[in-house]
Amino acid sequence: MAFGVYVHIPYCLQRCVYCDFATYESSQILPPEEYINLVCEEIKLKAPHIKPRPVDTIYFGGGTPSLLEPELIRKVLLTLKDCGFTPKEHCEITLEVNPATVNTKKITAFLVMGVNRFSLGAQTFRDDLLKIANRKHSARDTINTLALFKDLVSNYSVDLLFALPLQTMDDLKKDLDIIIRYAPKHVSPYCLTVVESNPMAKNRPMEADQIRMFSLIEETLTQSGFNKYEISNFSLPAYESRHNLLYWNDQEYWGVGLSSHSYIKWGSWGTRFWNPRSIEEYAKFKKLNWQTLGYHEVLSKQEALTDYFHTQLRKTSGLNKHAFVNKFLNPPQKYAAKELATLKSQGLLREDPERLFLSQKGVLVSNQVFKELTFLPN
Ligand SMILES: C[S@@+](CC[C@H](N)C(=O)[O-])C[C@H]1O[C@@H](n2cnc3c(N)ncnc32)[C@H](O)[C@@H]1O
Ligand code: SF4
Repeated sequence: MAFGVYVHIPYCLQRCVYCDFATYESSQILPPEEYINLVCEEIKLKAPHIKPRPVDTIYFGGGTPSLLEPELIRKVLLTLKDCGFTPKEHCEITLEVNPATVNTKKITAFLVMGVNRFSLGAQTFRDDLLKIANRKHSARDTINTLALFKDLVSNYSVDLLFALPLQTMDDLKKDLDIIIRYAPKHVSPYCLTVVESNPMAKNRPMEADQIRMFSLIEETLTQSGFNKYEISNFSLPAYESRHNLLYWNDQEYWGVGLSSHSYIKWGSWGTRFWNPRSIEEYAKFKKLNWQTLGYHEVLSKQEALTDYFHTQLRKTSGLNKHAFVNKFLNPPQKYAAKELATLKSQGLLREDPERLFLSQKGVLVSNQVFKELTFLPN
């Protein structure tokens, strides 16, 4: 049984037009030192409830964790350790980085404290699209940060956004060429997702072109030795994100900081709990409810089934039927015979003796598949 910790760092140089994560422009919230104090207090107070144990993965996400002084990240790691959440020998410790927010000294400081995986948000190498998105860095900045990583870091990942307004196949091809030149171990290509009212919802490639874009990504990365192991994640062999795999493999994780989510196997079917999204509420909530675990939801069997189908089917390896029976005592068909038959007849789901998995077509409309496999409490 693996266990991971997620630490949310809600600071950004600017708010990107498309982003819906719980983050603030740095000048709009309390100084990072004060925020990290709150996070450390949260860790100390909740640790006994969570039950201290060795940790397999730690993920500093955001926001822009790389904006913080390394000393503050170290403080969180030390607090976790002091509270009994000691990193195991090969613990994966990831830190999200924005282009132009690190230099050799800063990367070295992160490496020295045990960070061993970096995730760089490149998004696109077209400067005008970076501007439209309200990002502060240029493509040249991203290339400089990639060059630093290539020199100093053995395990890093790159986030790529596609299906952006005005983006062509040729742009995407160039983006992929640059990324491959800098030899990351992992790439996460995300199809831009925005509501219709978002300024970046206009002039986007048509749906058929978005599908062609994803095929180009898949072909290019596969030819360069990457395996697709999840809907939007590719890695070289043995470089899958172990932290993200926890989420998709029904393992426990503890999220600390603003808006972070946790899943612990309390109760018959597990419990989810989460922190508020606004910094005012986060600070207040912590003062008012120091001894409780905040918002929480004890899962019903139907909710556990829904979560299980949704997370397991995200993986290319799919849902393992033996593991399913171990958890729910009966095979998937017992709970979702009609839904599974329909999805299979529509060519969205495939089955072999060991597992259920999304077909090529199913991956493209995974939200539709997941909607079908959503079960309401009785
Ligand atoms: C938690 S964000 C933080 C990344 C980092 N702060 C940055 O901007 O480079 C992780 C990734 O989510 C992706 N993302 C954010 N908003 C998105 C959206 N609206 N649609 C698709 N992907 C999105 C981006 O690729 C981003 O790198
Ligand atoms: S920098 Fe990253 S986290 Fe911050 S607003 Fe932009 S995409 Fe979101």
